[in-house]
Amino acid sequence: MTSSLPRCAIIGAGSSGIAAAKALNAHGLDVTVFEASDRVGGNWVFGNSNGMSSAYRGLHINTSRERMEFRDFPMPKSYPDYPHHTHIAEYFDAYVDHFGFRDRIRFRTTVERAERGVGGGWTLTLDDGAVERFDALLVANGHHWDPRWPEPAFPGSDVFAGTQMHAHFYRDEEVLRDKDVVVLGMGNSAMDIAVESSYVARSTYLAARRGAWIVPKYAFGRPIDQLPNDPRIPFAIRRAIMEKILVAQTGPPERYGLPKPDHRFGAAHPTVSGRILDRIGHGTVVPKPNIARLDGDRVVFTDGTSVHADVVVYCTGYKITFPFFDEDLICAPDNRIELFRRVFHPDLDDVFFVGLLQPLGAIMPLAAAQGEWIADHLRGEYDLPARAEVRADIRRDVDAMGRRYVSSKRHTIQVDFEEYLRDLDRERRAGAERARARGFPLPVPARAVSGAAAG
Ligand SMILES: Cc1cc2nc3c(=O)[nH]c(=O)nc-3n(C[C@H](O)[C@H](O)[C@H](O)COP(=O)(O)OP(=O)(O)OC[C@H]3O[C@@H](n4cnc5c(N)ncnc54)[C@H](O)[C@@H]3O)c2cc1C
Ligand SMILES: NC(=O)c1ccc[n+]([C@@H]2O[C@H](COP(=O)([O-])OP(=O)(O)OC[C@H]3O[C@@H](n4cnc5c(N)ncnc54)[C@H](OP(=O)(O)O)[C@@H]3O)[C@@H](O)[C@H]2O)c1
Repeated sequence: MTSSLPRCAIIGAGSSGIAAAKALNAHGLDVTVFEASDRVGGNWVFGNSNGMSSAYRGLHINTSRERMEFRDFPMPKSYPDYPHHTHIAEYFDAYVDHFGFRDRIRFRTTVERAERGVGGGWTLTLDDGAVERFDALLVANGHHWDPRWPEPAFPGSDVFAGTQMHAHFYRDEEVLRDKDVVVLGMGNSAMDIAVESSYVARSTYLAARRGAWIVPKYAFGRPIDQLPNDPRIPFAIRRAIMEKILVAQTGPPERYGLPKPDHRFGAAHPTVSGRILDRIGHGTVVPKPNIARLDGDRVVFTDGTSVHADVVVYCTGYKITFPFFDEDLICAPDNRIELFRRVFHPDLDDVFFVGLLQPLGAIMPLAAAQGEWIADHLRGEYDLPARAEVRADIRRDVDAMGRRYVSSKRHTIQVDFEEYLRDLDRERRAGAERARARGFPLPVPARAVSGAAAG
């Protein structure tokens, strides 16, 4: 059977890829999902056979269940507020069966190359050597699997006597048992790993180059991310209220010996931990400034103090990487990639990105909304603004992010959860009007030669 709708490929069946696949499938688009692993769930599959998961044995979500769940498929009410990774992986698996699109996923199939034809369309080369053609490509390969080690490496790290590891490779606390441990970073990996270390290690030091507001998991008896957060209230007011709540709950971070944040709340990706301050209060985690250098079996900090260390855990974040693209076509140097509303490429009309954002809130409902939006577009029911407006919008977005966030490679794709959903909805409706006025043009035509090509 031939169709005038484009034939679509999705790279990745993590939570973002399955959200997009569900939307495209439900809207009658012919979609094939390529998944390197033998199952869906990506990062949430502990020990995933794709070798890409950063999950550790003790990982629980830090965005609450109701914030993270897909709106059209709530998580079971039997789940706790902050479920374990096993629950989350099960939930994504159940989502695929609930919406009945498992047969659209090709498991154990890695996309090694994605090449764009001269007139558009994509040729995918798979790990078994097969080559397939698609009209449109959705990229959902995740952005928390390629570890970013300290840049530049610390002096002395090449001859350090102990073990250096990145959080991506941390599986459980056994590697830290009875050891002297230094954990570097103030993000969520550093919080979790320092806390786990504090129960088994001989000593645990938490080193940081910058302070962070520590957000507890609960406030007023509710998951903190479920407190009212109406985007119609100016951000400055909501921020001031949240700062007051945090200070009332815990006092300022420097009270615990942590560095004073050099920014207002909301100017950095949230660091969520219900336990780190307790562990510091118990003396089982000791705050330190940044690492200056490694010296034999010691870590020297920027204040000149030093400690013996058997293990240094770098919780220094991740790189956004697309190993299947020619870097001249698409790449994200220093995690920068300019997209219209984090989805549409400004120059290429047949490639789309899903889940490539860092919300103050969970990624999943946003990825689901992006999937619906892309489906509209591929069916001709949403038309983009003029190219000049797309570029101007991207520029405004980049400028606003620069003004709001601390300058860091971890703050290049930030969005606010509620605002993003609201703005996406508005833009979808505006684009539907444009499409109607133009007679519902198909943005990506199904090409005459579509389907499997000779290898
Ligand atoms: C430790 C940790 C905890 C986190 N906790 C939260 C949280 O509580 N809440 C939250 O919202 N976010 C959290 N995140 C962010 C995380 O990115 C998302 O939860 C989620 O995993 C994003 O889903 P994804 O589908 O975009 O990416 P992934 O989950 O990384 O999935 C990508 C999928 O693409 C596949 N793939 C990649 N390349 C290829 C290829 N070339 N060919 C075929 N398949 C490919 C992979 O096998 C994988 O299945 C956390 C991240 C980490 C590291
Ligand atoms: N329980 C959970 O749900 C959970 C657990 C872990 C991770 N996550 C999520 O996973 C994602 C990644 O988190 P992450 O903590 O691994 O990374 P991250 O959020 O990118 O944090 C990296 C940290 O390392 C610091 N850093 C980077 N390079 C450094 C250097 N050279 N020297 C000193 N410090 C350096 C950063 O400081 P600057 O701010 O100064 O750049 C930051 O504090 C986030 O979305 C996070 O929410 C969630």
